[in-house]
Amino acid sequence: MKEKLEKLKKEILDNLEKVKNPDAFRNLEVKYLGRKGKLTKILKGISGLSVEEKKTLGKFANEIKVELRDVFKKTKEIIEGSVGREYFVDVTLPGKKIKKGHIHPITQVQNELEDLFTSMGFIILDGPELESDYYNFEALNIPAHHPARDMQDTFYIDPSYAKASEGKQKKLDLVMRTHTSPVQIRAMQKYGAPLKLVVPGRVFRSEDIDANHDHTFYQLEGLMIDENISIANLTSVLKEMLSGILKQEVKLRLRPGYFPFVEPGFEIDVNCTICTGKGCPSCKNGGWLEMLGAGLVHPNVLKAGGIDPKKYSGFAFGMGVNRLAMMKYGIDDIRLFNSGDLRFLKQF
Ligand code: PHE
Repeated sequence: MKEKLEKLKKEILDNLEKVKNPDAFRNLEVKYLGRKGKLTKILKGISGLSVEEKKTLGKFANEIKVELRDVFKKTKEIIEGSVGREYFVDVTLPGKKIKKGHIHPITQVQNELEDLFTSMGFIILDGPELESDYYNFEALNIPAHHPARDMQDTFYIDPSYAKASEGKQKKLDLVMRTHTSPVQIRAMQKYGAPLKLVVPGRVFRSEDIDANHDHTFYQLEGLMIDENISIANLTSVLKEMLSGILKQEVKLRLRPGYFPFVEPGFEIDVNCTICTGKGCPSCKNGGWLEMLGAGLVHPNVLKAGGIDPKKYSGFAFGMGVNRLAMMKYGIDDIRLFNSGDLRFLKQF
């Protein structure tokens, strides 16, 4: 019996020394000290011995019991202490780096454009993305019957839906704006002449999508109204802006272009900065990239804005910001901008 006890004591001490976590410790506690534990069993066995044996062995067994309880207690303290240490926070250690996002390339270009235009005395305006048919077309000299409506594939909003949400008495003709030009009219009505403004914003077209066309993209509209505004004013402002963005002198090419809200109207090309005009895949070997629609504001548009066309004239332009960003950074697919693909976005 004595040997048994000593063997068990050694076994227990060995195990306690190895124990590392609270669960393992609890298992040992149950295994040896529990109701059916090994040590408990031996101690219980003592009561069945003769009085003589009880005397000597009982004392010995009691000593071992006390000793082992003590070791269990100490081991428990150590283990619980080390558990506590796992949660100890050393505030002086360097923290985990939180990944930071950054500004989208389109927004970067837009911010640069805004800085350039404010430095030339233009104000920055905003307008609604869900626009009335009137501002998007009618007021811009594009009546409902006119074939010019076909130039911009439009997302028309179901009028029954619009009526349901806006009250039955109103008939609302709403479209997702196809360009930022409606803000020309809104601004003229609000501020009158003279006026110098740009409107960066998102526009929508029901378009077949490919590397050069997306259904959702960004434009920057420009409008300058004063006495005696001419095409010379237009080209000098555009040159200043494009050279500022592309960080090099640019050449402009004006071709006649039809937009109902300007007269005369132009398509404006910029010399390809990727191949410096020699010809490359980006400019389809032409050396020029189409970048803007522009012209002198049509008298009907000035009238719709409440401005006297006999006294004032103005220029307007609309530029594709995606296209400008593509040229600035050498991006070959417009779909990347709305893709949310981090492999693309991280490059800027
Ligand atoms: N709004 C025209 C478009 O989106 C561009 C434009 C703006 C043309 C202003 C002339 C003047 O195609």
